Amino acid sequence: MNIAVIGTGYVGLVTGVCLSDLGHNVTCIDIDEKKVEKLNNGKSPIYEEGLEELLEKNLRQERLTFTTDYTRGLAQKQLVYIAVGTPQGDDGSADLTYVNAACRDIASHLENDAVIVTKSTVPVGTNEHIKETIEANLVNDVSISVASNPEFLRQGSAVHDTFRGDRIVIGSNDEEALELLEKVNAGFRLPIVKTDLRSAEMIKYASNAFLATKISFINEMANLSEKIGANIDHVAKGMGMDKRIGESFLNAGIGFGGSCFPKDTRAIISIGRNVENDMPILENVVDVNERQRSIIVDKLHKRVTDLSNKKVAVLGLSFKPNTDDMREAPSIDVTEKLLDKNAEVVAYDPVATENAKEVLSNKVHYATSIEKAVQDADVAIILTEWKEIKNFPLHEYKARMKEALVFDGRNCFTLDQVKNSGVEYHSIGRPVIYG
Ligand code: UDX
Repeated sequence: MNIAVIGTGYVGLVTGVCLSDLGHNVTCIDIDEKKVEKLNNGKSPIYEEGLEELLEKNLRQERLTFTTDYTRGLAQKQLVYIAVGTPQGDDGSADLTYVNAACRDIASHLENDAVIVTKSTVPVGTNEHIKETIEANLVNDVSISVASNPEFLRQGSAVHDTFRGDRIVIGSNDEEALELLEKVNAGFRLPIVKTDLRSAEMIKYASNAFLATKISFINEMANLSEKIGANIDHVAKGMGMDKRIGESFLNAGIGFGGSCFPKDTRAIISIGRNVENDMPILENVVDVNERQRSIIVDKLHKRVTDLSNKKVAVLGLSFKPNTDDMREAPSIDVTEKLLDKNAEVVAYDPVATENAKEVLSNKVHYATSIEKAVQDADVAIILTEWKEIKNFPLHEYKARMKEALVFDGRNCFTLDQVKNSGVEYHSIGRPVIYG
């Protein structure tokens, strides 16, 4: 099959590379010349496990190429994927500027009939709008149909998720387009859900909103467990063993961040608002998530009372481990709140420091190791469960800090590990341990 992918951001690049690995001929189009050149030389601008190897392999086998030229990129393509960004607009809804631009570019350069496939997360109804926009601007006498094929990729395991995901969702109101997409995806050997356009668009939002709800739910249970003397680890384990509930996404902590959950939960609320349908559950999911970031600082404040000029070591800044992504990272709010209380904040992250410098207050200092961050600190606060942070021996806190006082926002240690460590340990949804 001949395929074009518009946008070589995170989703577009992974999609293009993986489709070429199935044996399809793929041309990825991007306006960024430097990026295109880099990609044609086999260098990935993002780090994703396994991606660069597949990129090099498929370039070598001449099934994959990158271009800035729409005419060349779209020539003889049966399928054109739109995988451009849909950032959050001012009112919480998805901003479709890049999608609209891609539609106009397709309309100006398409020279044969094609199915336009949307990978980008777009509000329900957008695919119909895409069809209208392209058809209204078509330069050549060609016909198009549209389909939705949402992605469910996690950062850090996107290649794995593409080949080993739980399902592939394809939606179209055109039976032939559905059949074509089914053929394109057959090589992944995953269960395929075929549905109409609007349901496919909705599946993406509903899935992310449900996972976000699971996290806010477990955080609400954790806050209560802490107050009544239960242990959220045991509560989550006991709940998760019920297959109807499932054990994943029940890790209590300081809440979800990243490029998807916060944006998509707000976007679906905004979609509801547009059709006068309120979403009380999701409004509260967002609210609980925002509050969760304050709770850890409030607990710390209650314990230390006066934080002014106290050295607080912040360990982990990215929104989750194994990424340098700072988008909507809880560390942004937490460091802000600590600085408001006049604490001296010294942060450490294995890879996100450069990105963090762009979004955190310039009052934050950065350390080059955990040891340096916690040296002579009054308090340490863990915000991302990096392996390095989980493996940092507890006795090192005791040896290096002024007072071994640790607030763990990601429950990196079991309570048994903390016992007799000499560390006073506050975590999420579990009793305080005076080790
Ligand atoms: C998510 C979805 O998993 C993916 O299907 C979708 O396409 C994009 O959004 P991602 O943002 O990469 O992927 O990260 P994920 O691993 O899902 O974690 C999201 C956030 O939730 C992180 O901040 C993480 O720390 C938090 N989280 C996750 C919890 O707090 N508890 C959990 O149990 C799981």
